Amino acid sequence: MHARQRTNRVVNRIEYFVIFCNVTKKAFYMKTQTILITAGPTIEPIDPMRHITNHSSGKMGYALARACIRAGYRVILISGPTQLKKPGGCLFVPVKTARDMLKEVLCHFPHADICFKVAAVADYRVSKFSSRKIKKTRDRFNLTLIKNPDILKKLGQIKKNSQTLVGFAAETHQGVTYARQKLKEKNLDWIVLNEISKKNVGFGSDLNEVTLISSDGKKIKFQRQKKEELAKQILKTVTKVPVDQTRRFSFTRFNLFSFLGRL
Ligand code: CTP
Repeated sequence: MHARQRTNRVVNRIEYFVIFCNVTKKAFYMKTQTILITAGPTIEPIDPMRHITNHSSGKMGYALARACIRAGYRVILISGPTQLKKPGGCLFVPVKTARDMLKEVLCHFPHADICFKVAAVADYRVSKFSSRKIKKTRDRFNLTLIKNPDILKKLGQIKKNSQTLVGFAAETHQGVTYARQKLKEKNLDWIVLNEISKKNVGFGSDLNEVTLISSDGKKIKFQRQKKEELAKQILKTVTKVPVDQTRRFSFTRFNLFSFLGRL
């Protein structure tokens, strides 16, 4: 073999090696999209004994986090206090108050491709926390409350075109009207409407039924089903990727043995 041919062969091999590195790198990083999820309630202390909070078991947000982890996404779960076991395989950030949640969300949001804002954030906090337990000496008692920051609205203001922002709306009445209003006011891509007056679904239950509404006018209703299953459907709808295929996706496209055989 001439020296020139040998050189060409070496160059070819180097080229193959570079392609191989790029393809395997792609295969490993195919699902490097990051999903930020907030879940559970926030709590606003009144005194060392008492607090203001919302009903929320955190089950829907945790189910969504598990669905995203299983699908191969990098997941950051920012959670208010819940009784649930934290999902493995994600960055778990525990918070208590709405302001703690805001701080953490703003820190992680720039790195997120998709954000599911499932948390039931307390809308108000007391104007002055009492470090001593408030005694029940008075028959009537007024608390002055001040509005908490609207975390989702802030995200809607800073979100880039490449990011997908999904809000959740808990409504007792005129659900679709209020959900559409929130979708617009908070500059969301999707909103998941949770009609909380329905029996046997929602808070604390393992079941839920929701309606997904998009900023481009889509309205998709998901019948009553397990939150685990619903989480997969929500993820699939928002990402437009069949969830069960996401993990296999990167490896089935690349056949290592046939590639090596060509070297
Ligand atoms: N949300 C938020 N920060 C708040 C309040 C709500 O980020 N201070 C988010 C929730 O996580 C949810 C969405 O906004 O994704 C809608 O929350 P919801 O409680 O349904 O509505 P609010 O915006 O609080 O309005 P209202 O209570 O008047 O219905």
